[in-house]
Amino acid sequence: MEQYAIKGGNPLVGEVEIGGAKNAALPIIAASIMTDETVQVDNMPDVRDTNVLLDAMQDIGVLINRKDRHSVSINASQVHNFVVDGDSIRKIRASYYFIGALLAKYKSAEVALPGGCDIGCRAIDQHIKGFRALGADVKIEYGLIKAHAERLKGSHIYMDVVSVGATINIMMVAALAEGTTIIENAAKEPHVVDLANFLNSMGANIKGAGTDVIRIRGVHSLHGTEYAIIPDQIEAGTFMFAAAITKGDITVKNVIPKHLESITAKLLEIGCEIEESDDAVRVVAAKPLRHTQVKTLPYPGFPTDMQPQITVALALSNGTSIVTESIFENRFKYVDELIRMGASIKVEGNTAIVNGIGQYTGASINAPDLRAGAALVLAALAAEGYSCIEDIHYIQRGYEDFHLKLQMLGAQIEKVDSSKELQKFKLKIG
Ligand code: UD1
Repeated sequence: MEQYAIKGGNPLVGEVEIGGAKNAALPIIAASIMTDETVQVDNMPDVRDTNVLLDAMQDIGVLINRKDRHSVSINASQVHNFVVDGDSIRKIRASYYFIGALLAKYKSAEVALPGGCDIGCRAIDQHIKGFRALGADVKIEYGLIKAHAERLKGSHIYMDVVSVGATINIMMVAALAEGTTIIENAAKEPHVVDLANFLNSMGANIKGAGTDVIRIRGVHSLHGTEYAIIPDQIEAGTFMFAAAITKGDITVKNVIPKHLESITAKLLEIGCEIEESDDAVRVVAAKPLRHTQVKTLPYPGFPTDMQPQITVALALSNGTSIVTESIFENRFKYVDELIRMGASIKVEGNTAIVNGIGQYTGASINAPDLRAGAALVLAALAAEGYSCIEDIHYIQRGYEDFHLKLQMLGAQIEKVDSSKELQKFKLKIG
C-alpha cells in the first residue's frame, strides 16, 4: 500500500501554484450533462474524486475528451442510461450531483447513495426536500436514490440547514424547471457561486449566488460553454497553514485572496505575517505561534475543511486554544493520531481543548480522511524524526501532486509502497 515517508524539521519555503477547486469541479462536471452541446472545462484538478466522476459519466454514454491534464471537453448528447452506480461512485460524496443534473435534463435519475469521508452523519434530507418541492417523486431503494418527474416546476424553498450540496443540487434542477425558484438560507461558498456562473455561461438565469437568497428563472435548454474553474480555497489554505506549522515562508499563487479571508484572519491572530497581492498570498511564520479560539461555520466563516490544519498549528502554539466543530460531528478522529506524535489535545463533544507543545515527534500514523490526512502530513513535516502516513488514498482524493508540491518547498517527503522503499528513503535522507 502506498504511504508517505517523511522526515520532518525543515521549514517549508518557496512558491506553490494552486490548482482548480475540487468542490467546484465536481458539480461542474455533473452539470455538463445538462446540455447536448460540448462543454470545455479548464483548470480542472487532476484528483481522484474528479476522475471518478468523469469515469462514471463515460459509463452512461457521455463523451469525455481530455485535452491535457487540466482541460477536458464533455459532450452528453449520447447519454443512454440514467442509472449511475458502481463501486467507485458509491465511495464519493459528490455522486449526488448526478441526481440534480440528470433530473434537470431527463426528469429521471437513479444514483448510488453517496459515500465520502467519514466525518459524521451526512444527511441528504435537504436535497430530497428540494427535489420534491420542484415536483419530483423521490425514493430510496436498493442503495439508490431514485428521482422522477413528469414536470419540474419552480418553487420557494427554505433550507433548514445551510448545505452546499443541497443548494447546488436544487440550483441545477431549478435551472431547467418551469418558472421561478427562490432558495432561502442558501449556502454562500465560492464553489456555489462558481457553479452558478458556469450554468449562467450555458444560458441559465441564476441571480444572487453568494448571498443567502438565490433566484433562478428556469430556461428551456442550455448550450455549450468554455469555462475555467476557480482556484481551490482549501488547497491554498492547507499550504498557508504549512507555512505556519513548519515555521516557513510560503507564497501561494493563483488564488483569489477574498476566498481566503477567514483563513488569513486566523493566521494573523496566531502571529503569522501575511502579504497579499491580486492573485497570491504570502505567509511568513517568523515568530512563535500564539493560541486562539476558532469555530467552523458556513462561508464566510472558518471552513470545516480547514479545521484539522488549524488544530495541527494550534497544538504547536503557546497556551491553550479551543477549536469548535459546528458542521460535522465526527471530525476529530485524527486527534488520536496527533496525540501519538506528542500533541496534548482533549476532545469533548464538538470541542477540542488544545494545549500547545514545543514540537511533535515522528510516528507511524493513518490518514483518517482527506483533510485530516493532509493536516497530519503537515504535522509530520514539523516533527522531529521520521513519520509514515498510511491510507494516503484519502489525500489523493483532493490534493493533486501533494508530495511533489511539498518537495518543491523543501519538504523531505516521498511516496513509497514497500518497506524496502522506506528503508531506501531513510538511507538517502540520513
Ligand atoms: C461540502 C463539501 C465538504 C465540506 C462541506 C461543508 C463537497 C463535495 N464537499 O459537503 O468538503 O466539508 O460542504 O463546507 O463539496 N446536512 C443536512 N441535510 C442535508 C445536507 C446537509 O442536515 O440534506 C447537514 C450536514 O450533515 C452537515 C451540514 O448540513 O452537518 C453541512 O453539509 P453540506 O454543506 O451539505 O456538506 P456537503 O455538501 O456534503
